[in-house]
Amino acid sequence: MSSTLDPKLNICVFISGRGSNLKAILEACEKPEFPARVTCVISNKPQAGGLDYAKEYNIPYAVLSHKDYDSKTAYEDALLEALSYEKVDLICLAGFMRLLSPHFLNHWGRYIINIHPSLLPKYKGLDTHKRAIDAGDSEAGCSVHYVIPEMDAGEIIVQRSVKISKKETEDSLAAKVLVEEHEAYKQAIIIVARHKFQDSVDDNYENDVSSTLNRNKNQHKNTLKDAQMADKDAINESQIMWTHFMTAAKYMGGFVTVILILMALFLL
Ligand code: GRF
Repeated sequence: MSSTLDPKLNICVFISGRGSNLKAILEACEKPEFPARVTCVISNKPQAGGLDYAKEYNIPYAVLSHKDYDSKTAYEDALLEALSYEKVDLICLAGFMRLLSPHFLNHWGRYIINIHPSLLPKYKGLDTHKRAIDAGDSEAGCSVHYVIPEMDAGEIIVQRSVKISKKETEDSLAAKVLVEEHEAYKQAIIIVARHKFQDSVDDNYENDVSSTLNRNKNQHKNTLKDAQMADKDAINESQIMWTHFMTAAKYMGGFVTVILILMALFLL
């Protein structure tokens, strides 16, 4: 049964660089109604700028460089061990420049999502903005998706798009898309939180995932609606309890009034 008293996802954010998505997630988590908290940050680069945000927000962090391990498996075992020290329900890859293997994904076995700066399935891999401009596309964007062993290929959770202007450069497009990335990541976390807490209630993960995918067919409108609904779900628990209390009070009041009337009639 999920923690209905604490309906928050515990997140570990994996980074390799600047960490602007990490910052956006940390800021979102400051809102009491946001259904997640960051419990740790892992970087594969000691000099990653994003580590400053972990320090600023007092979040435990670990630097694990793949270069310090003999094999990918050994590196991934070290990542799994680091994760085991904190409570983590969801890994958010946010500019983490390592491809995780089936070994890691199978052992992890929980939620893991990634943000990619293109409207997937277009432009998997690197140089996404340049490729979109060179192709003469009229729009670009970002995608948050579940992670599978194949790169940038898992099911899409949220996509947000921007228009590509005639004078667009790679840098200007990257800046525009980044603003959308920060929103997309927050929306995706809310959607995953919703899955997690529904999962625990009705054990129906497969259906939840496929319903998300169906919703993604009307993405831009619907994901925002989902995000707002999930926001409400997070606070609904206390509202429902309050409503039950008020209903019970109303019935009790009625019951006491009837008893008093009966007693008054009896005495007369
Ligand atoms: C983002 O553009 C993200 O989509 C890509 O790497 C970049 C990371 O940016 N995977 P930041 O480190 O979150 O600022």
